[in-house]
Amino acid sequence: MTGPLVEVQGLIKGFESSAGHLLVLRDLTFRVGAGEFVAVVGPSGCGKTTLLRILAGLLPPSGGSVAVAGCDPRLARREKQVGFVFQTPALLPWRTVLENVRLALEVNRVSRPALKPEDLLELMGLAEFADYYPHQLSGGMAQRVALARALVFDPKLLLMDEPFSALDELTRSAMRYELLRVWEQTRKTVVFVTHSIPEAVILADRVLVLSRRPAHLAGELVVNLPRPRTEDMEDSVPFQEAVRWLKLRLRAAA
Ligand SMILES: Nc1ncnc2c1ncn2[C@@H]1O[C@H](COP(=O)(O)OP(=O)(O)OP(=O)(O)O)[C@@H](O)[C@H]1O
Ligand SMILES: [Mg+2]
Repeated sequence: MTGPLVEVQGLIKGFESSAGHLLVLRDLTFRVGAGEFVAVVGPSGCGKTTLLRILAGLLPPSGGSVAVAGCDPRLARREKQVGFVFQTPALLPWRTVLENVRLALEVNRVSRPALKPEDLLELMGLAEFADYYPHQLSGGMAQRVALARALVFDPKLLLMDEPFSALDELTRSAMRYELLRVWEQTRKTVVFVTHSIPEAVILADRVLVLSRRPAHLAGELVVNLPRPRTEDMEDSVPFQEAVRWLKLRLRAAA
């Protein structure tokens, strides 16, 4: 791990609406090291998606400072340093798997991408489905296409917002290990939002616990499990202790 890739200092975010001012994030400070996998958990509505949107340069902070790869998140986004995977894959139904992964390249007129869409599909185990249309895919496959699409510019930072929450439990578990396999090979810096504490623990190097809105950092846990992570670690004492600790923290912060 080299220096921090994400630096958030005293971040404040509020929204103005006809109903008045809504404070969502208050004084949030944390760093994410280059190559680190950080999971974020917190009560529903506390501001996790808002935080990711700020890191992605899609929303401006109301106060404090945020840097991604040493610069303003909007600049980092323009320079394709940030990939985003949402809860639902949002693939274009009239484009094939390969065409969906290629879309952002076409929009940005990039003819020689850092990572070839075909290679990314291979990495995702989707090579033979390149010509399928989204309606012909399972939920897990569609989400793997979304991941390939997010990686196509070879971004430094990968932001994932509950990417597996729409999947059934078995597929969801398989996707965790699939993501870990891809992460071992690409070593992106990842910020991963989830409602599942076991998911946070098995994936992450470190878990941040946000409080209820207005969110602040209510706890932080370094996950002491070796890499590569395996399914049998979920039965281990360190795993279960981490889960228990985070559940208590989250309950106290909700
Ligand atoms: N564009 C917006 N304008 C006004 N309020 C907003 C906007 N975006 C989010 N909010 C409010 O900010 C708060 C946090 O929303 P956010 O989506 O970040 O929560 P979350 O932690 O991701 O929730 P969940 O776990 O349910 O996904 C909510 O009260 C929401 O209504
Ligand atoms: Mg959300």
